[in-house]
Parts: sequence; C-alpha cells; structure tokens
Amino acid sequence: MSFRLQPAAPARPNRCQLFGPGSRPQIFEKMAASSADVINLDLEDAVAPDDKPDARKNIIQAIGDIDWGTKTLSVRINGLDTPYWYRDVVDLLENAGDRLDQIMIPKVGCAADVYAVDALVTAIETAKGRQKKIAFELIIETAAGIAHVEEIAASSPRLEAMSLGAADFAASMGMQTTGIGGTQENYYMHRDGQKYWSDPWHWAQTAIVAACRTHGVLPVDGPFGDFSDDDGFRAQALRSATLGMVGKWAIHPKQVALANEVFTPSDEAVAEAREILAAMEEAQKTGAGAAVYKGRLVDIASVRQAEVIVRQAELIAG
Ligand code: COA
Ligand code: MG
Repeated sequence: MSFRLQPAAPARPNRCQLFGPGSRPQIFEKMAASSADVINLDLEDAVAPDDKPDARKNIIQAIGDIDWGTKTLSVRINGLDTPYWYRDVVDLLENAGDRLDQIMIPKVGCAADVYAVDALVTAIETAKGRQKKIAFELIIETAAGIAHVEEIAASSPRLEAMSLGAADFAASMGMQTTGIGGTQENYYMHRDGQKYWSDPWHWAQTAIVAACRTHGVLPVDGPFGDFSDDDGFRAQALRSATLGMVGKWAIHPKQVALANEVFTPSDEAVAEAREILAAMEEAQKTGAGAAVYKGRLVDIASVRQAEVIVRQAELIAG
C-alpha cells in the first residue's frame, strides 16, 4: 500500500438519486416526499430546449419553497458542449437559496471541464457572498470521460460523487444497444448450446469505483431504463453494490425502494460482519493474526472488509 492514506468519501447516504425534469414541477413535492437520499432536478436531457428557461425558474423557486427534509438536493445542469450550461450555473448560483447542496455536471470528458465550472461557480459564490459552498457531482458517460476518469476524480475539492450514465456512455462508445443498463441480449459467452450472459458495464463501473476510491469520491450507478423490470434493476444494483458503488439512480419513483433495499446492508450481512470483527478481536488477544470463522479464514483484511459493511450500515442508520 502507498504510504498515502486513501481519503474517505463524504459520509452521507447516497443509496438512491431520484430524478425528475425541471419542466414538470407537479412532481417536485412527490420527489421531496420520497425516500430517496438524493434529489436530482434536471435541466439537461429530460428538458426540451424551449423549456430550459422555465425549468430554471421552476427549480429555483422549488429549492426555496419545498421542504426537502434532510435530502441532498442537486440540480443537473446542461453539458459544456451546449449553449445552456453557463446560464444554468449563473441563474442557479445567483438566485437559488442556500438549500441547494450540489450541482451535477453531465458528460464530463476531462478534468478541465470541471475546472471551468468550478471557476464560474467560485466567482459567483464570492460575488454574491454565498455562505454555503456548492458541491459537485458528475456523470461519466462518454469515451473521453472513462479514458480520463482518474484525473476527473481528482479535478476539484468540490467533487463528492460520480455516476456512470449508461445510455450516453453506450452511444459514445458506439455500443450496439439501445438498452439503458442491465443485461444486453448479444453480450454472452456460448458453450454446449447454452448462452451465459456477461456484463458489458463491468469495466466502466470498476474503473469509476477505483478512481473514486482513490480520491475520496462516492461511486454511483446511474439509470436503469426499463422501470417495468424490477428483477433486472435489482440484479444490476446488486452487481454495482458488490463492486463498491454506494447507490443507484431512480428514473421512476418505483425504483427508489429497490435501490434502498439493495444499498442498505442487510441485517444478516451486518451481523456476520460484527461476528467477524468479534472473532478477530478474540484472535488478536491470543496474539494470532488470523482466525477461523464458519470454516473459513479471516484475518486483518477481513476486518477491513467487515468494517466497510458496518460503517455503511451505521451511516445509513444515521
Ligand atoms: N418523481 C416523483 N414522482 C414521479 C416521478 C418522479 N420522477 N415520475 C412520476 N411520478 C409520479 C406521477 O406523478 C404519478 O403520481 P400519481 O400516482 O400521484 O399520479 C406516479 O408517480 C406514477 O407515475 P407514472 O404514471 O407511472 O409515470 P409518468 O408517466 O407520470 O412518468 C416518467 C414516467 C419516466 C416520464 C417520469 O417518471 C420521469 O420523468 N422520470 C424522470 C426522467 C428524468 O428525469 N430523466 C433524466 C435522468 S435519466
Ligand atoms: Mg446522459
């Protein structure tokens, strides 16, 4: 291990990020009443070009008017390849109240993209005397984004979370699919007349997790488009959790409970983790560096693994 300690990611729950278009203010109260840890009000792709000005106004008003409870409140701005993003940032930072926690930058391709938004945000915060520093989250959803993911994870002290955006990522990579996340029909191994489906998102996910964990950023799985397929969502989310991601987006309210279920460590998992910690504590009393727990080896690394689960459960329990 490097002598540099791995920085901790922000200690806040991020099991589910519920999205809703800024052009549909009728659902804002419902979003606030949901059990999502993070709310993402969208100015980007869920809002048609002609609706962007009204969507900005709706969002600015709702940030102040609606009781968002203890949720992390985030607004997704437009990408740096559009004519909309600077106005999103200026209007939000000049007019939105201090309840706004975070802005989400989509389609980030290099660290300089984040630097540019940081420069604008910093100038407006100073000019307006804003008390609270706005945090950033961003989406890796282009070939350039994944190629530069490590420098992007280190790009700004404001950065708290990073999501994989499967649909734009697939398009940018030239992947032959219109599916948003999940199993892809044509991505399989074949043997003895049987198909075995593999996971085309795996590499991008692990690259994001590694970059995020190196720099103390929360890694998050993005959207699962087929909101009629609960089992598909659950399978994708379980894979993401197993790889180290802390949460997943919901693009429909019915996905919130599914995400919360998967990204909250189960009672059994927490109990087992505590037993492993206890077994190792006993072993260390006798000077042993390893022990046997339920017929398998546990050692100091097992303590670190168990601590991940216990810490996550404690964080969620508040
Ligand atoms: N958040 C909170 N509540 C929502 C919601 C959301 N994102 N989307 C829908 N609802 C509400 C509806 O108002 C409806 O409420 P009601 O029972 O009180 O009438 C209920 O949930 C069921 O909605 P349903 O009819 O199944 O969906 P819909 O056709 O109204 O909307 C979508 C479906 C996909 C268009 C909508 O969920 C949506 O806009 N999702 C977010 C899209 C987005 O932001 N994408 C960008 C990120 S990829
Ligand atoms: Mg996208």
